[in-house]
Amino acid sequence: MPGEEEFVVTPYEVRGRIDYDRLRELFGTQALTPELLAKIHRLAGGELHPAIRRGIFYSHRDLGSLLDGYANGRPFFLYSGRGPSGPLHTSHLLHFDLCQWFQRRFGVPMYLQITDDEKFWARSGLSREETVRWGYENLYDILALGFDPKRTHTFFDSRSIAALYPLAIRVARKIPYSTVKAVFGFEPSTNIGLTFYTALQTVPAFWPSWAEGRTIPCLIPCGIDQDPHFRVTRDIAEGLGYPKPALLHSQMVPGLLGEGAMSTSGERADNSLFLNDPPEVVDRKVRHAFTGGRATVEEQRRLGATPEICSVWAQWRMRFAESEEKFEQVTRDCRSGALLCGDCKSEILERIHAFYDQHAIAREKVKDWAESTIVASAPKDL
Ligand code: TRP
Repeated sequence: MPGEEEFVVTPYEVRGRIDYDRLRELFGTQALTPELLAKIHRLAGGELHPAIRRGIFYSHRDLGSLLDGYANGRPFFLYSGRGPSGPLHTSHLLHFDLCQWFQRRFGVPMYLQITDDEKFWARSGLSREETVRWGYENLYDILALGFDPKRTHTFFDSRSIAALYPLAIRVARKIPYSTVKAVFGFEPSTNIGLTFYTALQTVPAFWPSWAEGRTIPCLIPCGIDQDPHFRVTRDIAEGLGYPKPALLHSQMVPGLLGEGAMSTSGERADNSLFLNDPPEVVDRKVRHAFTGGRATVEEQRRLGATPEICSVWAQWRMRFAESEEKFEQVTRDCRSGALLCGDCKSEILERIHAFYDQHAIAREKVKDWAESTIVASAPKDL
């Protein structure tokens, strides 16, 4: 049994109560300092994304030099991705919201990877039809967050392989089997699709530089659990003549049952709020969600509750508090005992429903142009 202080964070497992500063030290990443926040704020035209301001994004690699380059007239591009194993849940929006914000405030392109191949290889229970269908469903949800059709490019792996493959050939030659075995824990029985897949996840980080024949820096916003993937990418970048991608890491958003992170897979569907959950299911999940409240109303009024351990507060913090004032008010009233959990849940439910309604409309609209973002071919490969 792990002791109280112990936690595990890898691309395949998130467990225990995570000490995020300690994790940053273990991974050897840099802290997002006030100076760096001020720099983002300034370059973004006097605005900071709420998830950065509230400390959810808290760690990085090489973000400072990427921003300095931008300030000196060298634009970057964004890269993020999704393995389509099922519906998206609200925590997935964190990274795509942030990418959308960077795209709008910095006027930079976004490259999105939909890894239908990866999920087919990784999950024996999923058919090809399912990974493709979820790939499109997820793509609509992501684009509906407000991405600019002209500046957004999708690698839908099975459809974009002709665009990816010429570079994947080069990348794959640089990655020894011993590396992926150590980083991902592959067993002799792991199918060979997955061992090769690693190369495909690296390709988008270099693709624009390769396609345009000039150096274009890359920024990857991701959960800190994904850092090991991109250490491989960073290790081989310079050997191929590309810049190491910069990373911006978030903390993990706790699941509604107060255990681990939200997850698409697994038996614990009530741990996550899926974007395709009908309103009554959303209600039920939030009503049953784990909170930082006290055993009785009297105690809560007297002693206050604990936002830091509350899964509902985590959702306010992540995206559902529309302003800093609102976020501070919820936090303060929770801590003081002025706000009871039932009322807090009613209030956030209104906002979640309003988001779902608005999102359903936006997602219908992107269906007209989603396909046109899919990159089908590569420039002439020499
Ligand atoms: N492997 C990721 C997943 O399972 C998908 C992914 C591909 C990704 N490229 C990425 C995630 C870049 C973050 C950044 O969901």
